[in-house]
Order: sequence, then structure tokens, then C-alpha cells
Amino acid sequence: MIVGNLAATFTSFVGRREEVAEVRRLLGAARLVTLTGADGMGKTRLALEVAAASAKAFPGGVRLVDLASMHEPSAVADVAAGTLAVADVGTRPLVELLAAHLSGRRVLLVLDNWSIWWGLARSWRSSCCRPPLSCGSWRPPGRRSV
Ligand SMILES: Nc1ncnc2c1ncn2[C@@H]1O[C@H](COP(=O)(O)OP(=O)(O)OP(=O)(O)O)[C@@H](O)[C@H]1O
Ligand SMILES: [Mg+2]
Repeated sequence: MIVGNLAATFTSFVGRREEVAEVRRLLGAARLVTLTGADGMGKTRLALEVAAASAKAFPGGVRLVDLASMHEPSAVADVAAGTLAVADVGTRPLVELLAAHLSGRRVLLVLDNWSIWWGLARSWRSSCCRPPLSCGSWRPPGRRSV
């Protein structure tokens, strides 16, 4: 079954049951949960597994926002708005429109490859009512991970 806009996976998820349970627990308690680790260790796959299993807990929807192709922070709002079908009507900054859209909704956003945009964490945490689940390889701020 495909949940939200999560891509279908064509291989079985192996192991990591404790990690899935722990991340789900954290999502119930925190506004922002970040998965970090070395390249290719399975952060995205773990996040997608958690997201797919969490649909009932997030009746507002489960959405994947892949930031891998972003070249500047200002484009993140555009991608997120496109994913969430929030129209940029020009009356208010797009980030404010996004915050208004998310306010009162229990939405799980999976922000993949966002380690390049650590600076956004604070603004998302303060403006969104529900937590995003983010995942990215750890890199010092300012260096791309993908
Ligand atoms: N638990 C798992 N079961 C089955 N396949 C897995 C599992 N974890 C990771 N994989 C597979 O391993 C590959 C790498 O995983 P993934 O893309 O999630 O790593 P990543 O840490 O997000 O990498 P990057 O740092 O490049 O973003 C993918 O093909 C993924 O489907
Ligand atoms: Mg990844």
C-alpha cells in the first residue's frame, strides 16, 4: 500500500525493528526528529518505513519532501508548498502560508536530504504544528551531503 506520496519500495525492509519503534516513539513526543549517519547506512529507508507505519497517527497526511536537488534555502518552501499543494497566492510569504496550512493539522513531513539546510530546523520547529521527520548524512553546516 502506498501512503501519502511515499514512493513504493520494491525490496523488503530488513531488521531495524528497534529503530523503527524508537523513531515512532520519538515522533509522538517531539516536533522534529532527525536521523543522521554515514552515507548509505539506511536513513532514508528507515524514515520511509517509519512514515509508512505512522499513517494512522498522522491523519493530516504523510508527505515526503526530497530536498536533494535544492541549491538554496529559499527553494525549500517552494518544494514543500508544491508537495503540500499550497498555492503561492502572493498575499503572504510562502513560509507563512505553509505554516498556516499546517497549523491544526497533524501532518508528518519527511524532509529527506536536508542536512545541507540545518539552519531551517529552527524555523520549521517554531512555525509548524507537527514534527517533520528529517534525515540526512551528517556534515558540518555549509557542506552538501549529496
Ligand atoms: N533496513 C533495510 N532493509 C532493506 N534495504 C535497506 C535497508 N536500509 C537501507 N536499505 C537499502 O540500502 C540502500 C541505501 O539506503 P538509504 O538510501 O536509505 O541510505 P541513506 O543513509 O539515506 O543514504 P544517503 O546518505 O546517500 O542519503 C537503499 O537501496 C535502501 O533501500
Ligand atoms: Mg538518504
